[in-house]
Amino acid sequence: MTTVLTRSIAEAAEFIRSGGIVAFPTETVYGLGADVFNVDAVARIFEAKQRPPDNPLIAHISERGQIELLAAEISIDASALIEAFFPGPLTLVVPKTSRVPLIATAGLETIGVRMPSAKLAREFLKACGTPVAAPSANLSGRPSPTTWQAVLEDLDGRIDCILQGEATDHGLESTVVDCTIMPPVILRLGSLSIEALRSMVPEIGIHRQDAALPPRSPGLRYKHYAPNARVVLVDSPSEIGADTGSAYIGLTEPVGEFAETMVCGSVEDYAHTVFAFFRKCDKAGIDTIYCQMVSESGIGAALMDRLRRAASH
Ligand code: TXA
Ligand code: MG
Repeated sequence: MTTVLTRSIAEAAEFIRSGGIVAFPTETVYGLGADVFNVDAVARIFEAKQRPPDNPLIAHISERGQIELLAAEISIDASALIEAFFPGPLTLVVPKTSRVPLIATAGLETIGVRMPSAKLAREFLKACGTPVAAPSANLSGRPSPTTWQAVLEDLDGRIDCILQGEATDHGLESTVVDCTIMPPVILRLGSLSIEALRSMVPEIGIHRQDAALPPRSPGLRYKHYAPNARVVLVDSPSEIGADTGSAYIGLTEPVGEFAETMVCGSVEDYAHTVFAFFRKCDKAGIDTIYCQMVSESGIGAALMDRLRRAASH
């Protein structure tokens, strides 16, 4: 299969309308989309990404009016979060309608719903005329793609089309909140901060997986966000000895020489660049990436979550 690269929203949306699978940019990361109601197209997403079939997909909408196609019920807390944060980097898990095929939700009776804020994403979703199921557009287990080039690296020849846009704004995935329970709980930290969520629903909790129970957010069980290189977390680059074969990313300028170095101006910058940096290091064959830890407020909490996951593989 040839993967068509295009900047035309109409051309990319036509692939979705005819049952194809298309990568497109959002404000978080690039997604790999299919019509959520088309069982064969959704199956192709799992195949192209080599995604385990028990990992559910997020349905993306272009306007709030589409929520009722997907959600059988919206709690008061869910409504408050929709009011405050749609469109934006937030996914709400809600009971699904019978119309949503079980393949999209990996057999669950719930569905993740998200309305992206990126202009290109909104226009593309509108042109598709249907909610679009989309996981991140990487091969399963690789860092999420923040540029169309990263999508091409993983999925060239495996998908119908890539809608080419700019590098994504946030660089980390959306925050996933389970609204099927009271009070809601955060299943995955992400680009929308805990502080922002709690300003609307103060009692929101953070899910801690009990190893004895089935995972509430199946995706978090899998190797995720990790480069091939070994990731080592450090408080400060002064802890690292001379190591010209490895790489460093952080907020503080290191003293020594590294094969690849990325000094970020802010935690937001760090979050925005980290996955692209991991991919660059993999291409360069780096075996160890030192990552400076950051304080866990704002997007720092999600960044530390991804760094810890990357370091534990
Ligand atoms: O920012 C994002 O969320 C990006 C863009 C493309 O929107 N998408 C994304 O999708 O990161 P994905 O599939 O890579 O991650 C979705 C996460 C997984 O951890 C999955 O298990 C969880 O959301 N999830 C999806 N539906 C769920 C559901 N019904 N119940 C619990 N967890 C769910
Ligand atoms: Mg993903």
